[in-house]
Amino acid sequence: MTPLIVDTDPGVDDAYALALAARAPEVDLRAVTAVFGNVDLPTTTTNARRLLGLLGRGDVPLGVGAERPLIHPTTRRAADVHGDDGLGGVAERFAPLGPEPVGRALDLIADVLQTSDEPVVLAAIGPLTDVALLLATRPDLAERIGRLVVMGGSIGIGGNVSAGAEFNVWSDPEAARRVLVEERVPTTLVPLDLTHVVTVDQVWLADLAASGPVGDALAATRHVYGRGEAIGRRSGAELDPRDGVDRVPIHDAVALLEAVAPGTLATIPLELEVDTSLGPARGTVLADRRGRAPGGRTVDVAVPEGTDVDGVRDALARRLRDDMVSAPRG
Ligand code: RIB
Ligand code: CA
Repeated sequence: MTPLIVDTDPGVDDAYALALAARAPEVDLRAVTAVFGNVDLPTTTTNARRLLGLLGRGDVPLGVGAERPLIHPTTRRAADVHGDDGLGGVAERFAPLGPEPVGRALDLIADVLQTSDEPVVLAAIGPLTDVALLLATRPDLAERIGRLVVMGGSIGIGGNVSAGAEFNVWSDPEAARRVLVEERVPTTLVPLDLTHVVTVDQVWLADLAASGPVGDALAATRHVYGRGEAIGRRSGAELDPRDGVDRVPIHDAVALLEAVAPGTLATIPLELEVDTSLGPARGTVLADRRGRAPGGRTVDVAVPEGTDVDGVRDALARRLRDDMVSAPRG
């Protein structure tokens, strides 16, 4: 089993992602670390405890990460999409509360990296502040990260938090630039371009709700989350003509599916740039397709072309529905 760490800002779609990670037979979930993002750090930390408790994974240590971006403060969170409690207004459904955090995120991640006898997969599904700080303060550990899987960015369909920027990158563009442009850890980026195509509808959500307590709690978030995301999508990131209020993206779950089952998503290697200016394009990810620098830093960017979108949606159902998780995996 591949050792896995998830850095997260739960967050409704983070909840789907953590459920998938906690139940995936391919991986050994070695640590979860909470970072600021959708809601503030105390709330993302409590929500991570809630998720580990509901999933029966109190064995997984929790670390507390960054409470703000590296350089410039951000003006907003995403409570309009995820609810003030960060879990679609139904946080109380995610119970019992898991154990208290064991300490700071960077210490926990470093400990897992140092003690693992094989390279670790690090999934980052919130702002990249913790990942940037880890690589800046412990460059010696970079080689122990076998693969970084990031949910973030938008390379061609526009943003969900501004005209061009996706929320995770926009929340800390300096951190995102360090990780996606200047570091050399093998990285897969799962952007809005794909996650806004792999949306789920009310039938999919109803089946999830009927599958058992975890599915029911996850699906119960749709009354808040779906509305917010749908509105967000209408602001210019809309991809799928079928999209509407009845379809919601579960961005982070798509990224975690790739993390636990490498190759599920079609990817293309791209040189990236991240706008860290303070202007209207701040947080925008630029894909440079000119192929200028042979041997330069490229990131494997997940794209809809070549991805079996229906297959991904079905795989997410198989891995999330309580009644299918216990069944042998097909
Ligand atoms: O833009 C979507 C991303 O930002 C997701 O990770 C969501 O949870 C928020 O963190
Ligand atoms: Ca997230």
